[in-house]
Amino acid sequence: MTSSEIRSIFLDFFKSKGHTIVPSAPIVIKNDPTLLFTNAGMNQFKDYFLGNKNPDHKRVADTQKCLRVSGKHNDLEEVGVDTYHHTMFEMLGNWSFGDYFKKEAIAWSWELLTDVLKLDKDRLYVTVFEGDEKESLSFDREAYDEWKKYIAEERILKGNKKDNFWEMGDTGPCGPCSEIHVDCRTEEERKQVDGKTLVNADHPQVIEIWNLVFMQFNRLKDGSLQNLPEKHVDTGMGFERLVRVLQGKQSNYDTDIFTGTINEIEKIVNKKYDFSDSKQAVAFRVLSDHIRAIGFCIADGQLPSNTGAGYVIRRILRRAVRYYFSYLDYKTPLLFQLIPHIAQQFENVFPELIQQQDFVTKVIKEEEESFLRTLDKGIRRFNDYTGFYIEDPGMGIMTDTHTTNIEEVTKTSTILEEINLNFLLDEIQKIKK
Ligand code: GLY
Repeated sequence: MTSSEIRSIFLDFFKSKGHTIVPSAPIVIKNDPTLLFTNAGMNQFKDYFLGNKNPDHKRVADTQKCLRVSGKHNDLEEVGVDTYHHTMFEMLGNWSFGDYFKKEAIAWSWELLTDVLKLDKDRLYVTVFEGDEKESLSFDREAYDEWKKYIAEERILKGNKKDNFWEMGDTGPCGPCSEIHVDCRTEEERKQVDGKTLVNADHPQVIEIWNLVFMQFNRLKDGSLQNLPEKHVDTGMGFERLVRVLQGKQSNYDTDIFTGTINEIEKIVNKKYDFSDSKQAVAFRVLSDHIRAIGFCIADGQLPSNTGAGYVIRRILRRAVRYYFSYLDYKTPLLFQLIPHIAQQFENVFPELIQQQDFVTKVIKEEEESFLRTLDKGIRRFNDYTGFYIEDPGMGIMTDTHTTNIEEVTKTSTILEEINLNFLLDEIQKIKK
């Protein structure tokens, strides 16, 4: 099954359950001071949950472009190093606004995964909220009893607030959740270690694919929980992970979502992706991930800049540049060359990129040129000043270290930290002694 087919199966399934299919909201958020980017499928529906607006439809489903690079839900530095974290990802979701609740949400998720998509039931685990005394929240018995209808009790695991109470941010709609995890290890490995001990333990092959959130509360600024006017369902399934499981791959980057882009990069840099943990292989993964985030954020109206959301895009782009500069030995703009491929791949899902292909390409190319110039200048200045040869120039300096004053050098530490160059500060301090 191709990734496009899998996406269609999800949407068609929920259509057959009375859901209206809606488009993805922009990945950049312009009207919510609590968020810079869409970090979950439910963001665009926040006002329906809070009771501030009435929805046109009580049941909807979609695939949403999301970005998680900072704050509550992700860390940029992990992306590309492992096989399953991303900056931009698609989140498949189905929603009930004051309509169905736990019973249907659980039944349909199970039906889709096991009857329609034919996942092996013996490889699935589910989690339910165990409760939290401090917050006066009780064990989610209702979800537990629903799951019991479909899955053996030893596969229903209890989870704490960190894993099983979903919150959009510091404030806003939230509620207990039930996650579905898949064990993708080999039969041999599964015999040696019981899969349930690896759930929510950061194992690269035992991964969460779907989160069913039962929205019941609003977290207020003072930290308290207020009951929402109605109960809602908010589910989020990581599309890239689902595709990986269904395509039987060990890594999200080995699915047809990413292999086309990786092939393009191979042609440009004239090197082969070897699936390993080497810095070169990480660079292929970083580029194939980051170009999607950069391309779609710019297409949705956010240009790289020095503040706020624009600065996040700039950081992602610069991380990608440093990786190709250092580990793919490519010294001229590369990322912009990938846009035509990505635009075509997503033409029928997120047409906004192909519609603005020339503009997006131009912005990325100019941003790359400017950073490459800074990188080059910084490296030369650093080398002149210290007499040190930087082994790893792509991780090079991008500010003026041409100073005789330690304090001034220290001022550059924020930038150095941001680009993983703390070690350079030590070197500078040593030379000055
Ligand atoms: N809103 C559900 C999730 O993002 O996991």
